Amino acid sequence: MPSGSSAGAARTATKAVLLVALLAAGLGSAACGRAQKAKHLIGFSQCNLGEPWRVAMNADVAARAKDFPDIEIAFADAQQDNAKQVADVENFLRQKVDLLMISPNEARPLTPIVRKAFEQGIPVIVLDRAIEGDSYTVFIGADNREIGRAAGKYIAQLLNGKGQIVEIKGLPGSPPARDRSEGFREAIQPFSGIQIVHEPVANWLREEAMAQMESALAAHEHIDLVYAHNDPMAMGAYLAAKAKGREGEMKFIGIDALPGLDGGRQMVADGKLSATFVYPTGGREAVDAAARIFAGEKVPHKIVLPTLMITKENAVPAAAK
Ligand code: FRU
Repeated sequence: MPSGSSAGAARTATKAVLLVALLAAGLGSAACGRAQKAKHLIGFSQCNLGEPWRVAMNADVAARAKDFPDIEIAFADAQQDNAKQVADVENFLRQKVDLLMISPNEARPLTPIVRKAFEQGIPVIVLDRAIEGDSYTVFIGADNREIGRAAGKYIAQLLNGKGQIVEIKGLPGSPPARDRSEGFREAIQPFSGIQIVHEPVANWLREEAMAQMESALAAHEHIDLVYAHNDPMAMGAYLAAKAKGREGEMKFIGIDALPGLDGGRQMVADGKLSATFVYPTGGREAVDAAARIFAGEKVPHKIVLPTLMITKENAVPAAAK
């Protein structure tokens, strides 16, 4: 029938137009490159990968990103160098990343480049070490002042309010070093019998802490306790004391509480550290926040992660007992 055949021809023509339109759309998105791809590209600027806690953070980010097939992550390692980290972020901006994630080496030198990214309209997630000011989308991290206070309270109790302390400090320009020190000092302040007799900077590093502890041991006949701003430095101090046969004279406290054989939890389980404090990496939470931002959801300006004191009682996960 003529009418039937003309209807059939019309359907065929419509299909052809649709096909051309679909092809054009496909070709169009391919021709426009990355900006039109389904994937969201995140540039993650890590301040260094020389410390186990940083390696754990990257692993947490990568593991969580696997749950989001439309998220792709480009990693950069600044090797504890502020200038390299600025260059890494500039590189991400040139690549036109859809979101910047950064754990800054030091606050002040990284603030201008983070602000530049944010002011260009790129969402910015700052992890663990803050920057100055407010030019970012969300900060994710634990409360280091609170951790310092908790360490101070526990230490005052452990020393019965009396003793000589060595405080080994992290990198001065990184806010957790300042906060872990200030919170600690606030908590021990009421105990006049407690004195900080030595307070070297070891920049978060085990080897530097070992060297600094050697000087502390040479300068002080008796030390009651070492409070180190992270577990690697606590371990460095422990090893230096052990080399002089003095590790039994004093107690050691750290922060991070990483799991695994080389982690702080194990050091507590082995009796090398009296306590450590969980300092979550925030890697998983950062990817979750990025996914929410990509979905057009609002995220809070600050996400505070929980901490926990680890002593011999809770050092080894129940499953491993
Ligand atoms: C790793 C690290 C951790 C510490 C954190 C503070 O670079 O030193 O050990 O808890 O940074 O920002």
